[in-house]
Amino acid sequence: MEFICSACGKRESVRTRKAHCDCGGLWKLDYEPPKFDTEKIDRSEWSMFRYRAFMALDDDASWRGISLGEGMTPIVRLDENVLLKMDYFMPTLSFKDRGAAVLVSHCRAIGVDSVVQDSSGNAGNSVAAYCAKAGIACEIFVPEGTSPKKIDSIRAHGAVCTVVPGGRDHCAEVCREKVERQGLYYANHVYNPFFYEGTKTYIYEVFEQLGRIPAHLVIPVGNGTLFLGAIKGLEHLLRSGCIEKMPQIIALQAETCDPLLRAAAQGLAEPAELTPRPTIAEGIAIGKPMRGREILEYAYKYGVRFVHAPEDRILDARAALARRGIYCEHTTAANYAAYLAYCETYGPTPDCLITMCGAGLKSDH
Ligand SMILES: Cc1ncc(COP(=O)(O)O)c(C=O)c1O
Ligand SMILES: [Zn+2]
Repeated sequence: MEFICSACGKRESVRTRKAHCDCGGLWKLDYEPPKFDTEKIDRSEWSMFRYRAFMALDDDASWRGISLGEGMTPIVRLDENVLLKMDYFMPTLSFKDRGAAVLVSHCRAIGVDSVVQDSSGNAGNSVAAYCAKAGIACEIFVPEGTSPKKIDSIRAHGAVCTVVPGGRDHCAEVCREKVERQGLYYANHVYNPFFYEGTKTYIYEVFEQLGRIPAHLVIPVGNGTLFLGAIKGLEHLLRSGCIEKMPQIIALQAETCDPLLRAAAQGLAEPAELTPRPTIAEGIAIGKPMRGREILEYAYKYGVRFVHAPEDRILDARAALARRGIYCEHTTAANYAAYLAYCETYGPTPDCLITMCGAGLKSDH
């Protein structure tokens, strides 16, 4: 298997330790899965690796060695219009386990013994847990103000957790500087294409569970790892003739940090420049999404609608869900707050699937 540089087209073996191409461009994976067919799902495997016939994996041993039973999350009906995909029913309580399982499996396959990663907390939790299972040393950089529970569990997995003063984008810069300076392996959810091989299983799972894809999908977008994975999965289902058209994707961003929403409103090819202001939705506080150009290309191609999660309604949305038995973290409550705001603008929105991608105990502070 090979990576292709998204900027200059250079090819490189996936065994490379380079976080990106020499020209600075991010890698894409040159991999075309076979036609999607539910007959090829391994129903004896009770994890998202049951879809491995359609996933770029280096071998058959590495994922078996690191799997923690990720995926297979239920879909629960909230009301007549809304279905919730309970993606916090995961080994480390967030959807990032989908991506981290494949990424760390790749690290194991190519013999990486030490990694670094930056995160708002959840991706770091996931990478730390899978590295613990794989016996890979790990350092996670998080920005100051990260939920203490996320930091505690990163450390519980034996990873070093370095808290960086300043915002989320600065934290990423500090980590990347260390990657460049010391030539470390960057097990990062945004840069490493293997992560998306995991997040795309979100779509395969929904299709297997419901036998269809709902008309509307609500997806949070910070760096867009679920968004890009979902697009990959949906394009695959389209090409395979399993679905006839793309669902309406409702992509949400924080009111105080919305570079993609602003760009889309003006038809720009690159994310808008801005200085993020604080949000309680810490997981989507990304001012400089590194795959922003790619996200916007898909957004224009598939008529994605961006919407704000109104900052002053996130806690109300969290409480409303909790009173119906769903206890999610602040960032995830933003998904529901954004859905309610979307309905106010576009009218009733039936057959809508919202991801519940982070657990309430994560931001219980
Ligand atoms: C709970 C939760 N939701 C959404 C996101 C946003 O994911 P991404 O930055 O990949 O778009 C994150 C990222 O950390 C998260 O933890
Ligand atoms: Zn290049």
